[in-house]
Amino acid sequence: MNNNLKKFNRLSYSLLPTPVHKLENLSKFFGANIYCKRDDMTGFAFGGNKTRKLDFLIAEAIAQKADTLVCVGANQSNFCRIASAYGAACGLNVELVLGGKKPAVNTGNLLLDYLFGAKITHIDSEDWDVWENEAIKISEELRKKGKKVYWMPIGGSTATGALGYVECMSEIMDYSRKNKIHFEGIIHPTGSAGTQSGLVVGKKIFGYEGNIIGMAVTKNTHQLTEEVISLSRETAHMLETDIDDGTVIVDDNFIGKCYGAHTRKAEDAIKLFARKEGILLDYVYSGKAASGMLDYIRKKHFSKNSNILFIHTGGNIQLFK
Ligand SMILES: Cc1ncc(COP(=O)(O)O)c(C=O)c1O
Repeated sequence: MNNNLKKFNRLSYSLLPTPVHKLENLSKFFGANIYCKRDDMTGFAFGGNKTRKLDFLIAEAIAQKADTLVCVGANQSNFCRIASAYGAACGLNVELVLGGKKPAVNTGNLLLDYLFGAKITHIDSEDWDVWENEAIKISEELRKKGKKVYWMPIGGSTATGALGYVECMSEIMDYSRKNKIHFEGIIHPTGSAGTQSGLVVGKKIFGYEGNIIGMAVTKNTHQLTEEVISLSRETAHMLETDIDDGTVIVDDNFIGKCYGAHTRKAEDAIKLFARKEGILLDYVYSGKAASGMLDYIRKKHFSKNSNILFIHTGGNIQLFK
């Protein structure tokens, strides 16, 4: 781990490092060398990329003597599921502000949020700003009642949260060094920019020479590139370094109609991963990122015999919604 990274408080609920392995059957099928970093196996509350962010975020909350976490997301938010579990394990109250119509039946992540004992306010709106404003209002009300609130924006994508993915980049570099495998490209879904920002900063710190490609699942390339650059700069600043803006690559060709909309390509990727590797992806995040990666491979975007790394960021609980 980088020395500057060690300066930050960190809990260790994630089981790190997560494994990396070759996807042998998919590699044969596509005539490529596809590897997978299993961040779906971070090991806590069904895992996923949010566990890494929460290792740093909740450590910061505890250092600030917070007793209540306020989180915001969609009804099926993976972040809110893991934050609810993390808060419960650390003896903190968890208040969730969940956007979208309140479902008649609680399924998937929402079912688990209730099981972890989170207090939930449903907001019947699809507008992310409305959700965040409501979360800020609830935080204020709780403070007036004497609670010490630690509030986290959508996806836990603050510079503190992004530190989790700086650490992930250091694991990838360790793997490359030990196994003498260089990855020409690292592919993952980009939603609220935290994962990619951490990786981009890690690229700079650990000297990764390939491309980090964020497959956009929430917004367009322009918007997400701006967000990743801004959050990467903030994260880099915390670690006393900087980033090269030109290293931020976001591709919005695989979102479909909008965030959460099913796409035919994602469905095909989900079936291929399930039937060739026994690995479960989801329709909102990892399925779309995988569809982008497979499209790149089909179109010979990478050099012959190169190695490609797919970061499986979790989220497959959504298959049960
Ligand atoms: C399963 C999964 N993958 C990827 C992402 C995207 O990560 P980020 O929001 O850090 O860009 C999310 C975020 O919500 C997620 O839940």
